[in-house]
Amino acid sequence: MKLKLSLLSLLSVALVILGNVDGGNVLVWPAEGSHWINLKPVIETLTDRGHSVTILVPNATLYMDTRKPERFNSLRFNTSISEKDLDDFFEEFLQFEMYESHQMNVLQKYVKFYEFLSKDQDFFLQYCDGVLKSPAVMDKLREGKFDLILADPLLPCAELAAEVLGVPFIFTFRFSVAHAVERMCGQSPAPPSYAPGIMSKLTDKMSFFERVVSLLFYLTNDAMSVRLWKTYDDYYTEYLSRPTSYCELMGKADIWLIRTYWDFEYPRPLLPNFIYVGGLHCRPAKPLPQDLEEFVQSSGDDGIVVFSLGSFIRNLTKERSNVIASAFGQIPQKVFWKYLGEKPDNLAPNTRIYDWIPQNDLLGHPKTRAFVTHGGTNGVYEAIYHGVPMVGIPIFADQTDNMVHMKAKGAAVFLNFNSLQAQDLVDALKTVINDPSYKESVMRLSRIHHDRPVKPLDEAVFWIEYVMRNKGAGHLRVASHSLNWYQYHSLDVLVFLISILALVFYIIIRTCSFLIRRCCRTPKHKSKRE
Ligand SMILES: *[C@@H]1O[C@H](CO)[C@@H](O)[C@H](O)[C@H]1NC(C)=O
Ligand SMILES: *[C@@H]1O[C@H](CO)[C@@H](O)[C@H](O)[C@H]1NC(C)=O
Ligand SMILES: *[C@@H]1O[C@H](CO)[C@@H](O)[C@H](O)[C@H]1NC(C)=O
Repeated sequence: MKLKLSLLSLLSVALVILGNVDGGNVLVWPAEGSHWINLKPVIETLTDRGHSVTILVPNATLYMDTRKPERFNSLRFNTSISEKDLDDFFEEFLQFEMYESHQMNVLQKYVKFYEFLSKDQDFFLQYCDGVLKSPAVMDKLREGKFDLILADPLLPCAELAAEVLGVPFIFTFRFSVAHAVERMCGQSPAPPSYAPGIMSKLTDKMSFFERVVSLLFYLTNDAMSVRLWKTYDDYYTEYLSRPTSYCELMGKADIWLIRTYWDFEYPRPLLPNFIYVGGLHCRPAKPLPQDLEEFVQSSGDDGIVVFSLGSFIRNLTKERSNVIASAFGQIPQKVFWKYLGEKPDNLAPNTRIYDWIPQNDLLGHPKTRAFVTHGGTNGVYEAIYHGVPMVGIPIFADQTDNMVHMKAKGAAVFLNFNSLQAQDLVDALKTVINDPSYKESVMRLSRIHHDRPVKPLDEAVFWIEYVMRNKGAGHLRVASHSLNWYQYHSLDVLVFLISILALVFYIIIRTCSFLIRRCCRTPKHKSKRE
């Protein structure tokens, strides 16, 4: 029976291989929300190019709707987490970020943030269990003969699966807090003096005091990361039955595809296996549906404003939505507002609420004057791509930091979600719409974005195929992966050199003092004799 089954699976594997002679076989580790939005164009392009793509999908997911027919295979696994658990977690997290955190001091925020991260980890480890501890799923992964694992390191265990299966892997993501993963596990250099940590809200031009903050930000986050990673270290060690560190396994990634670019980032040193592909999901605007186009045209010369708080935030309190609606009522533009909450009582005739908007097509419309955004990287990139000035209302994760980047580059202003009053939003909109410097700055970023040898999506796909063709990209990994921290900074060499120097000084001093004593003794004897 067992033999028959494995013969059958062998046959199906053979069929899979024969069916994709030229194409590779890619396994995608799951990701949620905006991360999924960003992976999808890559997966679709890979499929178009004849590769077979299989996506691991948990049986409880909020955003990856794989019930719809798609052009890739999905491999479902079971987790004990329910959709309600996930929903409750996100709801509590958003409630905290939107309405509670601003009343706390830095320490309280850190503690709470740490709590959320630990809870997040518990969920993640249950996902790991669902894959790695399920013989049925692991058998399928082995039989799948994958050439590559494509993973968002937001979720752990892809690197563990890659180790177990002996398959090369690529990370694709936006950031880790303070670049902790990129720096400590990927060995990507980011000196705190001019490459501030992500979420520090600093720019690359820092005063002395800001550099103090920058270094402290790195140190505290590194300590927190190391503490949190311990949980994964234990899990990996137990799973492989040998001492294993999470960071060390992550460091084996062949390529790191980072979802930003030099239109957005502050320049800093790069490693050959870090590739910047920000904006890969952006595309030229398509014509709008007729009703939307009519509303756009009704704006005349004043044009339109597009407002969205992204895929996570569905509703606001009545008070906040009224303030925002009242501000929109005071500008001459027509406003497209993506919102799933209750309609504000004071919604003005120039503002329309939609469950969903074709955001990329609206931002690419010639009548669009400004984008009011929560500052998620996907939206910021669409604004850069189409050259639309931004008003940020950042809420969580990297959003404030993203808006700091855009403000530093002259393409945006941003407001505090909790304290903003209608007049603040009106003033901000008037500033970015009427002061031409904002449009000029964002057009400059847009030119930088478009002026590159290869489009970001093509570049991402190139590196994925490159790793499959070359069975890994170990030749691009720096050797510092095998050094520890004091070897990396040559501290052991310095200690060695200083010791030699000290020894030489010691010998010189001893010799001198010996000679001085000899020289001085003679006259003494003389004087005694005299
Ligand atoms: C998931 O659980 C269902 C029952 O809830 C079971 O039928 C199915 O085989 C499980 N799938 C895997 C991959 O273990
Ligand atoms: C996922 O599978 C597990 C195990 O079979 C089951 O307990 C759980 O209820 C399933 N969750 C969902 C949302 O179907
Ligand atoms: C938003 O909607 C969720 C349910 O989807 C609800 O629990 C929450 O209270 C709502 N928040 C506000 C501020 O209305």
